[in-house]
Amino acid sequence: MKLAVFSAKSYDRTYLEEVRANQFAERCDIEYHAFALSEETVPLAHDCDAVCVFVNDTLDGRVLRALHSNGVRAILLRCAGYNHVDLITAEELGLFVANVPAYSPEAVAEFAIALVQTLNRKTHRAYNRVREGNFNIEGLLGTTLHGQTVGIVGVGRIGLATARIFHGFGCRLLAYDPFAGDEFRQYGTLVDLDTLLQESHIVSLHCPLTEGTRHLINETTLRKMRPGAMLVNTSRGGLIDTSSVIHALKTRHLGGIAMDVYEAEGELFYNDHSGEIIDDDVLMRLMTFPNVLICGHQGFFTREALTEIAGVTLSNLSAFMDGVSCPNSLVTEGHILVRRNTAPVRL
Ligand code: NAI
Repeated sequence: MKLAVFSAKSYDRTYLEEVRANQFAERCDIEYHAFALSEETVPLAHDCDAVCVFVNDTLDGRVLRALHSNGVRAILLRCAGYNHVDLITAEELGLFVANVPAYSPEAVAEFAIALVQTLNRKTHRAYNRVREGNFNIEGLLGTTLHGQTVGIVGVGRIGLATARIFHGFGCRLLAYDPFAGDEFRQYGTLVDLDTLLQESHIVSLHCPLTEGTRHLINETTLRKMRPGAMLVNTSRGGLIDTSSVIHALKTRHLGGIAMDVYEAEGELFYNDHSGEIIDDDVLMRLMTFPNVLICGHQGFFTREALTEIAGVTLSNLSAFMDGVSCPNSLVTEGHILVRRNTAPVRL
């Protein structure tokens, strides 16, 4: 079995090679490509049975058909989100597709909290000031989180982990999730989206990106948010209409935004562009606001999560090789994604 890993960084190689050497040395050869999977790079997978990809690889219908005609039969996502995969075409082609649904919800939840606390208490600005010998605290005023209302959009694995931490801070919790289970009720109240937006001091996004959630945060929903509220997005950039956010920041209605993801991140994130001119005027405008904090999609990036991602990715491959049922396969039936313990999702 030959596997081509795209968008491979040194840490992907380190963690995947460790699992391969310990468990799959005889059964699997892996070749690593630093660049992303796209129509142009598909030929590199021509003698491979499977490809392994990350969040910004292209897996649209054209790429999937090209992979299939090159002999590839399995797509292994080393991430939880699958919004970038054309699952309808995958179903038509009979491709095996599997993700790593829960490698460390706490890793992403803890990062969301880190963003909130950085933006709120301005530790990023304090760090720079102090290193220059400036111990003035003017402009670093924050808000005590205890007693604040936090709205969580999507209380799946990461949303619940985030709720647990905010609950520990002594926050009042609201959540909106049309498919919520019962677990959130021990931390707060399930409400409709409008109530959540109107009442929350902090709104944290943890729902998947689908056609139904694209630009969930837009001009209309931003207007419903409490003046001065903070928005946090560690889920997917496409949940937010970035131009509307810029407008809401300019009018001073939105109090701040912390984002680990950005809707046009594909061209930029995970690579060093520090010596180049960045053409994305929307992102560059965003970076000029003092109340905006942007990170390059690193919520998942902990040792524990990378260990889990490598282990689960190769055990997904093992299930495919053995032709046995895989708990992480994204099985679709008639364009509906059916997963254990999760509501069916129409594609
Ligand atoms: P999950 O599937 O456990 O939970 C998602 C929740 O969103 C579910 O409870 C679902 O019912 C809910 N939901 C679906 N449609 C909704 C809607 N219209 N409004 C509100 N809620 C809705 O997924 P998990 O593991 O919690 O991950 C959430 C997202 O986090 C992923 O889709 C992924 O995009 C993102 N993520 C980001 C990472 C990062 O490094 N920043 C790493 C891992 C995941």
